[in-house]
Amino acid sequence: MTHPAPATARLTLDPALRIAPVSRRTFGAFVEHLGRCVYTGIFEPDHPGADADGLRTDVIELVRELGVSTVRYPGGNFVSGYRWEDGIGPVQHRPTRLDLAWHSTEPNTFGLDEFIRWTGKAGVEPMMAVNLGTRGIQEAVDLLEYCNFPSGTRLSDLRVANGAPQPHGIRMWCLGNEMDGPWQIGHKTAGEYGRLAAETARAMRMIDPGLELVACGSSGSGMPTFGQWEATVLEHAYDLVDFVSCHAYYQEKDGDLAGFLASAVNMERFINDVVATADHVRAKRRADKRLMISFDEWNVWYMDQPASQTPREADWPVAPRLLEDHYHVADAVVVGSLLITLLRHSDRVTAASLAQLVNVIAPIMTEPGGRAWRQTTFHPFAQASRHAAGEVLRVEPTSPTYPTTEYGEVPVLHAVATHDPETTGTTVFAVNRSLDTPLSLAIDTRPMGSMRVVEASVLTSRDPYARNTADAPERVSPRSNPSVSTDRDGFTVALAPVSWNVIRLESASRTG
Ligand code: AHR
Repeated sequence: MTHPAPATARLTLDPALRIAPVSRRTFGAFVEHLGRCVYTGIFEPDHPGADADGLRTDVIELVRELGVSTVRYPGGNFVSGYRWEDGIGPVQHRPTRLDLAWHSTEPNTFGLDEFIRWTGKAGVEPMMAVNLGTRGIQEAVDLLEYCNFPSGTRLSDLRVANGAPQPHGIRMWCLGNEMDGPWQIGHKTAGEYGRLAAETARAMRMIDPGLELVACGSSGSGMPTFGQWEATVLEHAYDLVDFVSCHAYYQEKDGDLAGFLASAVNMERFINDVVATADHVRAKRRADKRLMISFDEWNVWYMDQPASQTPREADWPVAPRLLEDHYHVADAVVVGSLLITLLRHSDRVTAASLAQLVNVIAPIMTEPGGRAWRQTTFHPFAQASRHAAGEVLRVEPTSPTYPTTEYGEVPVLHAVATHDPETTGTTVFAVNRSLDTPLSLAIDTRPMGSMRVVEASVLTSRDPYARNTADAPERVSPRSNPSVSTDRDGFTVALAPVSWNVIRLESASRTG
């Protein structure tokens, strides 16, 4: 296949143009009791590779390789009907329940204490959500007491009796989930939720003032209440919370791949609008505190496809195959572009969760009793988590544009860079959104002093719909990009159409 002649784009790396430190929590993910995320995902006692706790060690290894920082649990829509007490204590005494959110049966053989054991083995920070759908303040503070109080009370001693002598020490807590959504069990108006979130936060802080609390923002920027929801909720809860959440899912619609590749334009605007709303409330309250965003659900999700249709009528299966999207190259490029957006907004987005982690719209897939493998979207996440370090730099690219139906003219180049002053390690993350035109990217490194290229890699394919499978797990993965050339001002690298690229540099004077 021949491509049109390359277009040219430029960016400059300047260590003085810092946006904010890279927040490790940008690389969070999400485990919900949904489909096969927990059962036959992270937990499968009968699997040949399961450890003594029934946890899949092949999945733990992949989670570590993915570089996940924080994991949100146990939902999602599931949490709004969940009784956390069902998932603790001897397994044989735990109840089987209906999960109304996903029309499934919840066996409760995996719960809070198993999750905390899993986070220890996977090397991730737990982030807990409380049920503000069917429950309220009392159940939230009970859960907090069970998790974080050292001992000497009924609930903390129960945790000790259940095999966890040390407190779980969970710092980040979500005050409910998507309470603006009419599909949510216990859906509320902004005023109802704002009051409940504020009072729940106030009570939780009586136990532990140092918690980091997340108020539910909108479940999408397309919600009819978007904007007003955030304003009303924060009128009630601003002083008592640290974060407001954003959720966003993207998919290719009506064969419009060009528009899909520009999805980050929507995410960027969403972030800016929520920051503006939070800062408006801040101004009215004359508050010193600035609220941060927890972008705690984001991904590509083909939610109209049969894979996302919940069971019906008399069918209440345990761990059905739900939301098992199989991602292709273009999906991975969009995921990379969304990561670039999160990093570019690191001054206000200091936590994020890729939704979700295993099997359910996930970077990791498993077969029950069998193999685990990396989806295409695994790679941009793993590379960004591994190589984004130090400070996020403002790179101000110049780029040709292309027309989209949804967003008008959009730059074909989407990029960000990070720079670690201690190691001099500097990484450019770049996406070429063009469907057919290679991009020649000139990277001006003069403000950095003399630099050398450590590695350049590209994730692309002649077929933007190429996927990985259990039988061909490496079909789509990053490959070395040999196109880098040195010039007077820095380097030039060729970015293939529909590609995710990582270019790693370091000071030329660095030894060892
Ligand atoms: O991640 C899947 C679902 O998407 C979550 O349960 C819900 O919060 C959102 O609507």
